[in-house]
Amino acid sequence: MTDLVTFLQQTLKAAEEASTPEALDEIRVSALGKKGFLTEQMKTLGQLDGDARKIQGQELNKAKGEIAKALDVKKQALDAAALDEKLKSESIDVTLQPSPALKGSVHPISQTIEEIVEIFGKMGFNVAEGPDIEDDFHNFEALNFPKGHPAREMQDTFYLNKTHDDQPMVLRTHTSPVQIRTMLTEEAPIRIIVPGRTYRCDHDATHSPMFHQVEGLVIEKGIHMGHLKATLKSFCEQFFGVTDLPMRFRPSFFPFTEPSVEVDIGCKKTDKGLEIGAGEDWLEILGAGMVHPNVLKNCGLNPQEHQGFAFGVGLERISMLKYGMPDLRPFFESDMRWLEYYGFSHQDMPSKERSVS
Ligand code: PHE
Repeated sequence: MTDLVTFLQQTLKAAEEASTPEALDEIRVSALGKKGFLTEQMKTLGQLDGDARKIQGQELNKAKGEIAKALDVKKQALDAAALDEKLKSESIDVTLQPSPALKGSVHPISQTIEEIVEIFGKMGFNVAEGPDIEDDFHNFEALNFPKGHPAREMQDTFYLNKTHDDQPMVLRTHTSPVQIRTMLTEEAPIRIIVPGRTYRCDHDATHSPMFHQVEGLVIEKGIHMGHLKATLKSFCEQFFGVTDLPMRFRPSFFPFTEPSVEVDIGCKKTDKGLEIGAGEDWLEILGAGMVHPNVLKNCGLNPQEHQGFAFGVGLERISMLKYGMPDLRPFFESDMRWLEYYGFSHQDMPSKERSVS
């Protein structure tokens, strides 16, 4: 009996003083567990008789109840203290500025590609891609630049020190090789645009050794120059946001198109910058033409049956014109101030209007 009273007092005190849930568990096990003190005591009841057993049984049950209750009360107190602690350490200061490091912007080249894909997408064009490292056949030969032909000098090429199937490898000088890849693998009718990186051995204020182009190709029966003009007019008017944009198609030369044209848009140079669509000046923005019969033949198509047109646009150039950027070099210098000023937020994609300055 005295044992029980002492045990009860000590256990209640220990529960009161316990500072962790683990300590409480230990007390529970040593008092109420399978081999705990009270459980062992219960087992000895059978040795007692009559009243003694009854009294001892009641005492033990009472002690069990008191200990269980004390343990529960303490457990709740410890849980509440732990929660308080957690809330304190996790408190959020809603007045703090969000971290500026999280704010990025869309590069003007990506933005321009998105805009172009959107415009041509509505005209039924799909996006196609090809490798930056090309072989001589796709970059030149199949596009009607024969080996040793002076036309190859139009494009200052980076040659690689490796060959593929005995062919010299180059960094593609334009996105036109993807025309060849597509015509060789897909059935006409074809309507594709090809955004991508291109490379030329050239570097000054208006040329970068790496730059971007979007190529366009349409192959269908009965396609003629009128389709080319209408498609490019619609594209330019949507891209520059100008209706009735004055346009000029000047005769030109590319080995892979015949006839070939260079396309200018009307503009006016003012003190404030360039006004697209107004005035007497012209700006060249892209090259185009009807796909040369030799190119069609090189891709297994019969020029009597299939016709097509192609065009190539320099992305840096038209971004600079649309968004009033004076210099080409910062496009690839990763200067955060330039990116912040000329970059776009994701919500703006595609087509954000910005005045030309
Ligand atoms: N590939 C030509 C260039 O880079 C552009 C072009 C493409 C011209 C398609 C006509 C047709 O200069």
